[in-house]
Amino acid sequence: MRTTVGIIGAGPAGLLLARLLHNAGIDSVVLESRDRDYVERRQRAGILEQGTVDVLREAGAGERMDREGLRHDGIELRFGKRRHRVDFPALTGGKSVMVYAQTEVCKDLIALQLKDGGPLLFEAEALAVEGAETDRPRVRFRHEGVEDVLECDYVVGCDGFWGVARRAFPAELSRTFERTYPFGWLGILADVAPSHDELVYARHDRGFALLSMRSPSVSRLYLQVPEGTDAEEWSDERIWDELDRRFETADGWTLERGPITQKSVTPMRSYVHEPMRHGRLFLAGDAAHIVPPTGAKGLNLAVGDVVTFARALTHRDETGSDELLDAYSATCLRRVWQAERFSYDMTTMLHRDPEANGFDLRLQLARLERVTASRAAETDLAESYTGFPIG
Ligand code: FAD
Ligand code: DHB
Repeated sequence: MRTTVGIIGAGPAGLLLARLLHNAGIDSVVLESRDRDYVERRQRAGILEQGTVDVLREAGAGERMDREGLRHDGIELRFGKRRHRVDFPALTGGKSVMVYAQTEVCKDLIALQLKDGGPLLFEAEALAVEGAETDRPRVRFRHEGVEDVLECDYVVGCDGFWGVARRAFPAELSRTFERTYPFGWLGILADVAPSHDELVYARHDRGFALLSMRSPSVSRLYLQVPEGTDAEEWSDERIWDELDRRFETADGWTLERGPITQKSVTPMRSYVHEPMRHGRLFLAGDAAHIVPPTGAKGLNLAVGDVVTFARALTHRDETGSDELLDAYSATCLRRVWQAERFSYDMTTMLHRDPEANGFDLRLQLARLERVTASRAAETDLAESYTGFPIG
């Protein structure tokens, strides 16, 4: 099989890239190791930055998002039983975010791709990328038990943190930067209307908690738990009791309970692989970088990467110049590091580090006080949350 751009992975990065290239008249093939049902059900991100919303609309993939997504103009920070609202449009000159689940973004993009895009092969596992330094890179893959080769002009590894694309970078070229955290998130989906109309980020001595949502009738909630926690250790009642404690306010706010339909634990990690390009192999999304989820940057970073790649390749087609492709890694990494900084700041400001001493805890409260007392500090949070420019 032969194509212009071989895309490994049908997460948000790979699927959106296929759509952007299709719209630009560039053909591609997407290889995805899992089946369609798995990709469409995997519970993950829920918050789209303004820039991501704009990109999906421009790509022709925003119709259902505009109908069913929930526009959010702020978040609440909760600590010391007090509540503080951060008003995004007032602080950023009109920006907001959209609650629309990653599962839905993927479903919409898959439907478009299957309707009029290039091939999207499920249960097609990439085994290795070869010849990245040549002008004919190849992806070896296995589909329906048969090994095959996809010959390309370019390969984009959108295969997530555990994918194979990154392994094709020579060791002497790769530099990685990493930090792990001694806690994770226990996430639940519950069939109950969200108890607040905006997201609530709560810092509590017992640990962080987050109230989010998937629709007007489905709540998404997260609890900080120790690293390595098994979700099955947490009964439904224990989860609701713990959420009640961490969200408690002085003004008697209450959390509505409902049937829990899903629970799982996510580890927390910060990770960046530099560079994001080797020859004709490019990395995008979680394949190149991971942020801890606090602040909801992962999917939005993936979108920025593939927009940057699609623009660069279109520029080459139109002008013959490799200038933007050559700048791909540096362009993406500038934005990636801003998101790493913000996600780290949000994580360390809101979570209870089991090793923190009294000084650390006082500092944490001082950081929260600063955000609520200084318009400049609050503006910094609002600008970062609603998103950094792409490119
Ligand atoms: P992935 O979604 O991981 O997709 C990679 C794809 O490649 C997968 O489908 C995988 O099956 C496939 N693949 C892997 N190996 C191979 C192979 N060898 N061959 C073929 N296919 C392969 N981000 C946000 O922006 N906002 C949020 O609110 C948010 N909340 C989150 C909450 C949680 C609990 C978690 C875990 C993450 C959250 N994120 C959030 C992060 C976000 O989900 C990821 O950053 C996003 O999925 C990255 O997209 P991707 O396409 O790069 O990678
Ligand atoms: C969600 C995830 C996040 O990481 C976050 O900061 C906000 C919301 C969510 O899954 O809804």
